[in-house]
Amino acid sequence: QQEKNLSNKKVLITAGPTQEAIDPVRFISNHSSGKQGYAIAKAAKELGADVTLVSGPVSLPPVDGVHTIPVTTALDMFEVMKEEAQKADYIVMAAAVADYRPAKVASDKIKKTKEETQIEMVPNPDILAWIGQHKQENQIVCGFAMETKDLDKNAQEKCIRKNCDLLIANNLKVEGAGFQTDTNVVTLVSKNTLKHLPKCTKEELGFLILRTMKEIEEGKSLC
Ligand code: PMT
Repeated sequence: QQEKNLSNKKVLITAGPTQEAIDPVRFISNHSSGKQGYAIAKAAKELGADVTLVSGPVSLPPVDGVHTIPVTTALDMFEVMKEEAQKADYIVMAAAVADYRPAKVASDKIKKTKEETQIEMVPNPDILAWIGQHKQENQIVCGFAMETKDLDKNAQEKCIRKNCDLLIANNLKVEGAGFQTDTNVVTLVSKNTLKHLPKCTKEELGFLILRTMKEIEEGKSLC
């Protein structure tokens, strides 16, 4: 039984992938299962928080007692997050948001031909960067980073650029880390510290992230 030490907190979490439509039958997406974001939502609920989960399309059962808002695209997620972020004390962005979307969504199925074809892509808004820019006083923001090389350097740059209090960096190339697994291998990153952690379950990591956010709020450093 966890001590309910987040009982006065509103925690906002994103999870899962976004899907960016090409035409009525096809989309561009990624391998996120939602497990990491849902595990954080479950941990926050157990700690007594008022939890809102903004979830891309996943096959996971809903978390009991958590207000879940389903979204499909990065633009949908952005609209919901701009609204919900205003009410949150802690924000954790575990979703794998598509960086680009097709410039046009064809209204009918694109027909197969023998020719090469190309899809023009336009950048999606960076939701975490927007939240970092509009961070309210006393709000604690935790981002994630998915890196395949120069993890420490890239993650710390991302933490600073997106104005996060904490960033959780996972390396796609490490066994037991990242997409779809029940475990993760991460580095806790702040603007001036890095802490490498051993493999743990996504649920254990959920509790650790929330505890660390509370410590940051109380003015303690990461080490
Ligand atoms: O869902 P699982 O299968 O359990 O996998 C978990 C996970 C690997 C998806 C998760 O641990 C994770 O790393 N999520 C972030 C993946 C990602 O999109 O990383 P990134 O380095 O591209 O993005 C950095 C941060 O910016 C993330 O917090 C992301 O939510 C955010 N972002 C990215 C792009 C964008 N347009 N808007 C954003 O807000």
